[in-house]
Amino acid sequence: MRILVTGGAGFIGSALVRHLVSEIGAEVLNVDTLTYAGNLASLKSVESAPNYQFLRADICDRARMREAFASFRPDIVMHLAAESHVDRSISGADDFIQTNIVGTFSLLDAARHYWDGLDARYKSDFRFLHVSTDEVYGSLGDEGLFEETTPYDPSSPYSASKAASDHLAIAWHRTYGLPVVVSNCSNNYGPFHFPEKLIPLMILNALEGKPLPVYGNGANVRDWLYVEDHARALFTIASRGRPGEKYNVGGRNERRNIDVVHRICAILDGVYDNKEPHARLITNVTDRPGHDARYAIDASKLESELGWKAQETFETGIEKTVHWYLENEWWWRPLREKVYSGERLGVFKGR
Ligand code: NAD
Ligand code: TYD
Repeated sequence: MRILVTGGAGFIGSALVRHLVSEIGAEVLNVDTLTYAGNLASLKSVESAPNYQFLRADICDRARMREAFASFRPDIVMHLAAESHVDRSISGADDFIQTNIVGTFSLLDAARHYWDGLDARYKSDFRFLHVSTDEVYGSLGDEGLFEETTPYDPSSPYSASKAASDHLAIAWHRTYGLPVVVSNCSNNYGPFHFPEKLIPLMILNALEGKPLPVYGNGANVRDWLYVEDHARALFTIASRGRPGEKYNVGGRNERRNIDVVHRICAILDGVYDNKEPHARLITNVTDRPGHDARYAIDASKLESELGWKAQETFETGIEKTVHWYLENEWWWRPLREKVYSGERLGVFKGR
């Protein structure tokens, strides 16, 4: 099985590539342009595997994408390359529009060009998995879950750009017959997570005795999924999902942000610098503009149709994650010092 992965040097992409190379035994081509969020150190465990190749290229470059398809000849495409951080999209949306929308178009164009030239049998077996987020559905109130049929209602420049790319992917199926499948997943966490997102930022700030900035009152709810559960779900959907269908991915682990931060502090109190409780560092800061109140996923279609189930609970996953950061300073220290040191993003005057 030959799988072209885009964004394989990112957080979820690297977990997926490690899974495909080491556990599935697929031939993998990782196409990634290495933005601030792309990090080949996350792929150290597979970099010299005979079934792994890396191509540094921008998905917006249509000629290079066509060449990559022609020379690698994938059976499956798993498209993860994106700008992924909501706060950065608030500070400036240019890269989000370019990569998430134009880049997805460019990749769909290259995939269609390649697929058009395949023999009938390969044509019907080919799959293009477009990897998306539950944030396209907007914000929930206290009750209810996102289902595959929930109307799109994105709030941030990030989620609006992902919504646009989902529509493009489905349109390429309906119009051209390209065997596209779309997955919409809840918030991921786990090892190799770039320390701009809530969980790794809180862990590293707490380790360094810095304030833990909780937006607003901390009552916003996210539905957390351990990244390795997501990687298994993505392979399941790409290999067995039905063309033209969407699959929600989530592990029924809703938590308020403030409770997540308290849990991280409590784990650290037990194992690291326990003179004073880490929760003393929690600081309420100005809320995020357009902050979605609650996300929660109904993953029963994926569970009943394709037999996937999350293996980690939030309790087991967060424990593993905190310990991973304690043991892997070689990975995060250069990022904190040279790429992003944790300053507030996504606030602007006049709001
Ligand atoms: P990430 O920001 O950690 O990684 C993105 C990767 O894409 C990086 O390696 C980057 O170098 C690469 N990339 C960016 N622009 C590119 C371009 N123009 N050409 C080639 N490569 C490019 O992102 P992530 O958190 O791993 O998310 C991966 C995908 O999963 C995204 O599509 C995101 O929308 C989706 N998703 C993320 C979450 C989450 O909680 N992080 C949840 C659901 C869905
Ligand atoms: P984040 O990890 O950025 O993911 P997303 O916005 O895609 O859900 O944020 C998760 C939640 O944590 C979100 O409600 C915003 C909040 N948050 C904070 O309270 N403080 C922070 O420093 C960050 C980065 C996020």
